[in-house]
Amino acid sequence: MTTTVRTRVAIVGAGPAGLLLSHLLDEAGIASVVIDQRSRDEIESTIRAGILEQGTVELLDTLGEHSRARTVGHRHDGIELRFEGEGHRIDFAASVGRAVWLYPQHEVLKDLIAARLAAGQDLRFGVTAENIADAETSTPRVIARDADGRPFEIEAEFVVGSDGSRSVARAAVSGSRQGGYFREYSFAWFGILCEAPPSADELIYSNSRDGFALVSQRSDTVQRMYFQCDPDTDTAAFSEAQLWDELQKRVPGTTLKQGPIFQRDVLRFRSFVAHELRRGRVALVGDAAHTVPPTGAKGMNLAIADVRLLADALRRLLLEGDERGLDAYPEKALRRIWKAQHFSWWMTSLLHVAPDATDFDRRRQVGELRTVVESEHARASLAEAYCGWPFTD
Ligand code: PHB
Repeated sequence: MTTTVRTRVAIVGAGPAGLLLSHLLDEAGIASVVIDQRSRDEIESTIRAGILEQGTVELLDTLGEHSRARTVGHRHDGIELRFEGEGHRIDFAASVGRAVWLYPQHEVLKDLIAARLAAGQDLRFGVTAENIADAETSTPRVIARDADGRPFEIEAEFVVGSDGSRSVARAAVSGSRQGGYFREYSFAWFGILCEAPPSADELIYSNSRDGFALVSQRSDTVQRMYFQCDPDTDTAAFSEAQLWDELQKRVPGTTLKQGPIFQRDVLRFRSFVAHELRRGRVALVGDAAHTVPPTGAKGMNLAIADVRLLADALRRLLLEGDERGLDAYPEKALRRIWKAQHFSWWMTSLLHVAPDATDFDRRRQVGELRTVVESEHARASLAEAYCGWPFTD
């Protein structure tokens, strides 16, 4: 026996994009059902990036007291670019009058889940979507299995795939789960979480002869740091002392404050944009539509920018019967997506040392870094992208 529920919008994936979309739709009086194959605990504890653009924070403000980005998170008015052993501050406030907030993604997820449950959202964990059917009809369906493996279906007026980089919904939109523009990188990040005070007031993006390192933060007592590594690195291959050596040699000029390392992971880099973002009554948002390398922390911010556009398109479709917002969604979203693709690729290539880099490449890279830090205009361009380009809609 299949259990079938009916709703206006079926949302596959309870990440930041899916949850925020259900909130924006609810504000417009549009009911939705959100499913995710993971448990609530898994969603709330997965470690991801930690930087929110100003526009992301402003949109999260609509959650009211549930958003803790401004109270628990920290505003950052700049970052440091370090190369040739010297630090250069990019002052966001002076360049573009904007800021970012350091507030980890899993905390955003806790806020969103609490807010949605408090609002009575139909939000189901442990439900695995298998397929989206009837995309080109007015009643698309999500074919799924519940936590006990029983068949479960959602019949809706619209289906949104916010189901991450291994999206099932993508097949209904692109015709294949893989179809897209794609690039891989010859390096990855080794990430650690440690118990220590911050080593600096702001984030340090450091280019060194030994490769890239990022000194990021989580709170007054927990820090997040990364160093460039081979994509096949085994996280167990380093002792704690070796990890501190690897990090420290890439950040000359600052003595890193060390403490027990309680988590380690390797983040592989990919750039990806799906060929199609919409077919009929199914659309993709967030990682289902695109992936960026982590340098610059655009991933979640870009997902939220997609949702902002799609929520508006769905309001027009479902409240006014006007399809034009939806027709324009892919093109509008792709403008920002490709800008973010460029920015993430550019920050990555500016700061990392490719394994096959020659002396020429190395000197050219330092020339490029100098071009950025010595030009008011180049600094402003970086600051504008980092804090998030203004929304023109
Ligand atoms: C992080 O804190 O995880 C982080 C911060 C900035 C980035 C990427 C990741 O550019």
